[in-house]
Amino acid sequence: MCGIVGYIGKNDSKEILLKGLEKLEYRGYDSAGIAVMNENGVHVFKEKGRIADLRTIVDKSVMATTGIGHTRWATHGVPSKVNAHPHQSTSGRFTLVHNGVIENYDLLKREYLNDVTFVSETDTEVIIQLIEKFVNNGESVLDAFRNTLKLLVGSYAIALLDNQDQGTIYVAKNKSPLLVGVGSDFNVVASDAMAMLQVTDRYIELMDKEIVIVTQEKVTIQNLNGETIDRAPYTAELDASDIEKGTYPHYMLKEIDEQPLVMRKIIQTYQNDQGELTIEPEIIKAMNESDRIYIIAAGTSYHAGLVGKQLIEKIAQIPVEVHVASEFSYNMPLLSKNPLFIFISQSGETADSRSVLVQVKELGYKALTITNVPGSTLSREADFTLLLHAGPEIAVASTKAYTAQIAVMSILAEVTAKSCNIPVEFDLIHELGIIANAIEALCDSKEIIEQISKEFLSVTRNCFFIGRAVDYYVGLEGALKLKEISYIQAEGFAGGELKHGTIALIEEGTPVIALATQESVNLSIRGNVKEVVARGANPCIISMKGLEMDEDSFVIPEVHELLTPLISVIPLQLIAYYAALHRGCDVDKPRNLAKSVTVE
Ligand code: G6P
Repeated sequence: MCGIVGYIGKNDSKEILLKGLEKLEYRGYDSAGIAVMNENGVHVFKEKGRIADLRTIVDKSVMATTGIGHTRWATHGVPSKVNAHPHQSTSGRFTLVHNGVIENYDLLKREYLNDVTFVSETDTEVIIQLIEKFVNNGESVLDAFRNTLKLLVGSYAIALLDNQDQGTIYVAKNKSPLLVGVGSDFNVVASDAMAMLQVTDRYIELMDKEIVIVTQEKVTIQNLNGETIDRAPYTAELDASDIEKGTYPHYMLKEIDEQPLVMRKIIQTYQNDQGELTIEPEIIKAMNESDRIYIIAAGTSYHAGLVGKQLIEKIAQIPVEVHVASEFSYNMPLLSKNPLFIFISQSGETADSRSVLVQVKELGYKALTITNVPGSTLSREADFTLLLHAGPEIAVASTKAYTAQIAVMSILAEVTAKSCNIPVEFDLIHELGIIANAIEALCDSKEIIEQISKEFLSVTRNCFFIGRAVDYYVGLEGALKLKEISYIQAEGFAGGELKHGTIALIEEGTPVIALATQESVNLSIRGNVKEVVARGANPCIISMKGLEMDEDSFVIPEVHELLTPLISVIPLQLIAYYAALHRGCDVDKPRNLAKSVTVE
């Protein structure tokens, strides 16, 4: 969701900015733009659609060593050239890109900017017009910027140019992610390190409500009172090849295939020299001291949380509730006496989850973040972090992060159980090793799964996923994957619940994908399949070896029954991938979606 880049140095900035924006494409966007500044002023190029469209309108003859760029995911105002960033103040002196939502923009317009004609429908434009207004009233640019920020309610990451000062990019952030990258004769600004890895791997984290004055030689961080803050850069441990597609046609397929590797990496990373799984003692202490765990997440991470609940309750025997972050944030349930909060987030930046984290920290509760991104906001602000070690996930549809989240939670559950002598009747390292091999086998069965996808999904407009127990949770994820990228309306249901209403939607040929990996409910889920078949449904049963029956469409290898989600999800990811591919959809960049949802 919205990405920002900026460059100030000796080289021409256009290509650096465009390449940076391309690296941010994965976050989701619907328009893009850059502004570059030279002795002739600021040149703005913006366009609705893809960076490729933007490239066609950038004037190659303009040379400028300072610039900012933006990918916009529309919130206030439709995706259009006018609403695309950068935005400019009325006089054209100030140019700005913004990520986030200014909640009080309407009020600010009415209170301060009655005499200003706005050109866009965005909340962003209010920021740039306020800065110009304050400068016109005699304030320095820095004061005007600071005083504007003080008025803003909401979230922002901002990069600002002043055409009367070619040597500076002004930067600020609150709740939305932003980093400053440092080089030897240049400095950069980026929503995440991946964007500017092309020029530097050294970054400085920014905290909320800080202002940064970035010049070619220097990065000066100040708080809103103007006091200077010293902060050393860190090295982003990212391999440039991790963020390339290589020979794969899509990131999603590459990331599905990476899952065995990720499983093995997790086993290796969480193992000590004695070959035992291990987790920081403080985290295990917090687990044991809690009387109830609250898992908070969104999207795919929420679905992983549902599986995590099963694992923690069954292995570590601690009660767990799983909540959608955006709901919890506005409607907090009655909490237990000693809760522990676990935030699950691939990006570590999801605004809804962060809003809950801020609330629970204010209440004095402990929080653990399980994330793929070290140094992300949710990681920095929680008491503890467990990393997924999945490598960058670029495709908007999350795949390897989901399985990594479940694997890490299984380890957390196992280590917690062992720490208080709760017997664990299986060897998790061994079982996860079996899982890695099973995923590999499934990834080698792509042709069969592609065929299934063609058979069941090539003409349909909807599809249902059913399952019981943990298969229900995996079905929810299967449905989310399918709708996200193929736009087929897909819904997941508990096997027994479908008949309480939704069965009315079953027509002749409606595909129903049923999961049967749990022995205790194998017969009952098959009963539910019979119910929909009697009403014309076209059933696709995916079962586990040992539970399979003649009518099944696909059989996954046998693994420990608590860990089946780690492999039953693989055919569902692939079914979604091929359904999207055959429908000609943009697999890695589905419409309307953002990878990192940084607004509430
Ligand atoms: C967006 C993405 C989903 C993701 C969700 C939560 O909606 O499109 O793929 O699952 O955000 O993101 P997080 O980074 O917190 O896991």
